[in-house]
Amino acid sequence: MSERKAQTRYPFTMPVGWFAVAESPDLAVGQTKAAYYFDTHLALWRDEEGVAHTSDAFCPHLGAHFGHGGHVDGCQLVCPFHGWKFDAEGNNSDIPYSERTNGRAKVKAYPTQERNGFIYAWYHPHDELPDWEVEEVADITNGEFSGPKHTNHIVQVAIQEMAENAVDSAHFRYVHNTAEVPVIEKYESVGHRATMESSQKFPTPRGVVNGRIDSIADGPGVSIVRFSGIIDTLLVSASTPIDANTTETRFNFYVRSMGDDKLNSSVGDAFAAEVDKQFKEDMPIWEHKAHLVRPALIDNDGPFMKFRKWYAQFYVDEVSDDRTVFPPPFWPEKLDETPAKATASAKYGTADGETPVEVAPPAPI
Ligand code: FES
Ligand SMILES: [Fe+2]
Repeated sequence: MSERKAQTRYPFTMPVGWFAVAESPDLAVGQTKAAYYFDTHLALWRDEEGVAHTSDAFCPHLGAHFGHGGHVDGCQLVCPFHGWKFDAEGNNSDIPYSERTNGRAKVKAYPTQERNGFIYAWYHPHDELPDWEVEEVADITNGEFSGPKHTNHIVQVAIQEMAENAVDSAHFRYVHNTAEVPVIEKYESVGHRATMESSQKFPTPRGVVNGRIDSIADGPGVSIVRFSGIIDTLLVSASTPIDANTTETRFNFYVRSMGDDKLNSSVGDAFAAEVDKQFKEDMPIWEHKAHLVRPALIDNDGPFMKFRKWYAQFYVDEVSDDRTVFPPPFWPEKLDETPAKATASAKYGTADGETPVEVAPPAPI
């Protein structure tokens, strides 16, 4: 029998970066919570001063999971099993039935910061510290935009494969049935930041409106997309590797306030529903596609190789594999799965039967 080489799904593992591990409102002061990202069991906790923390899940004493029954005492995490306490750096700070602490009992703490409605943890496979911070989006806090409307999805795809969708201008017509496709005017990267500027014609009942879609990606996990032209909308998108082959994406949608809560919420709902619809149209493509190391691109395709070059900086460990085609596993239960027939994406959304509100964003993800 020939020996079969163990194969990975992709020629890359999990990238380095800041990644959302929770939405801010989902972790109350004093709460602990279980999570699973970076192929690791994690515990999230918010201390009594309101600061969010991310740590490995298992207590170094006898392995209890802090996120299942653990609690918070001031700024310490307390294990549910024998009451040992740990500080924000993961050092053992108290053992209730001993006069001494245990200097060898250390819990790995992940750099954690809270911005823009998300709790972000820093992932690096060799625990190196962050070399950038997640930036605050002023529009969210200055009252000019209303929201967020939140959605999330878990997809059987590597985070890079999903992100590549943003530079794939041609697929909008064929997967999402949009009448017009965005024209990518500029794609640039400096360090961890990649910016893309694109224009798009939006068909509306009053004629064609010229719109813009401009995005900033700060590493693989943080992305801000702004749509303008009809109604200004803002999407804070956060993708996080659950493992090397599985990604959770969270969207927070905001709309420039129009002074009327009902209208804001109607437009926000329409915006979220459209991006969500397009995301679901993309999902089966992503899950069933092979990753091609050398795709047969033409000049009119988007800047795929620029994107891949920028993204490559976030991988620390090489995957040694000389294949150029990386197919998905065989999933018998998904054999008949095909993408949903895309419906038109031209205009949608009404405020209780009033004039339709056109927001028309193509999926930015
Ligand atoms: S397992 Fe955590 S205190 Fe014993
Ligand atoms: Fe898409």
